[in-house]
Amino acid sequence: MNLSTLTWTEVESYLKTKNSLILPIGSTEQHGPTGLLGTDHLCAEAVSAGVGAKLQMMVAPSVNYGMASHHMAFSGSATLRPSVYQAMLADIFRSFYAHGFRRFYVVNGHGGNINSVGAVFQELKHEGMQGASFALYNWWKLPEVEAVSKKYYGDKDGFHATPTEVSLTFHLAGIDHRPFEETPQKGNAPWPMTAQEVRQVFPTGAMKSDPGLARGEHGKVFLDLAVQSIANAIQQAAVIE
Ligand code: NI
Repeated sequence: MNLSTLTWTEVESYLKTKNSLILPIGSTEQHGPTGLLGTDHLCAEAVSAGVGAKLQMMVAPSVNYGMASHHMAFSGSATLRPSVYQAMLADIFRSFYAHGFRRFYVVNGHGGNINSVGAVFQELKHEGMQGASFALYNWWKLPEVEAVSKKYYGDKDGFHATPTEVSLTFHLAGIDHRPFEETPQKGNAPWPMTAQEVRQVFPTGAMKSDPGLARGEHGKVFLDLAVQSIANAIQQAAVIE
């Protein structure tokens, strides 16, 4: 159930019997020379759509921009300052809460968002959002997904422009494979890194990963695993009413 393509009357009807909402969040940022700029939100959207279909749950439009300041030395990347990003997320939750949504399931595609999302959950609970529950699912960190990543790519999954996420977008876009020439890491810098430091240390934008290992057929496997795993987790989640 895709909120974007429903009417307000249909959402009102949904809220008579259900109060769950899935929110996909991602980023618009470089994913190396072979990965799509929309990788993080495309993955989150696809996983969310699958979970929504499986559990008959409403899926909100995705938040396609995130905290990506460290990618700003690569063309096409965009970032929100953490304070702006947190304020925006909080207002989105407040809006849906006002209509009666209570159980919020965030499907995330970008590591840089994790700290901000946790801070927003804390802020909203601190405000006393009665009856609301929040859960964050980082699809690529699910144990089922990590196990298969390890099997396919060993220690070459790295932590950005990973063959895991690139495979998932290749599956969605109908791409089988794109060759990638690995460039050795140049030096090091403590995290958090500036955009210039990232560009200098990781000249291709891939970070300790080999996206040349990505395959569209792997992406289908990852998508199915992530959907099933999150659907299971949601069904088993204990919610205090
Ligand atoms: Ni990514």
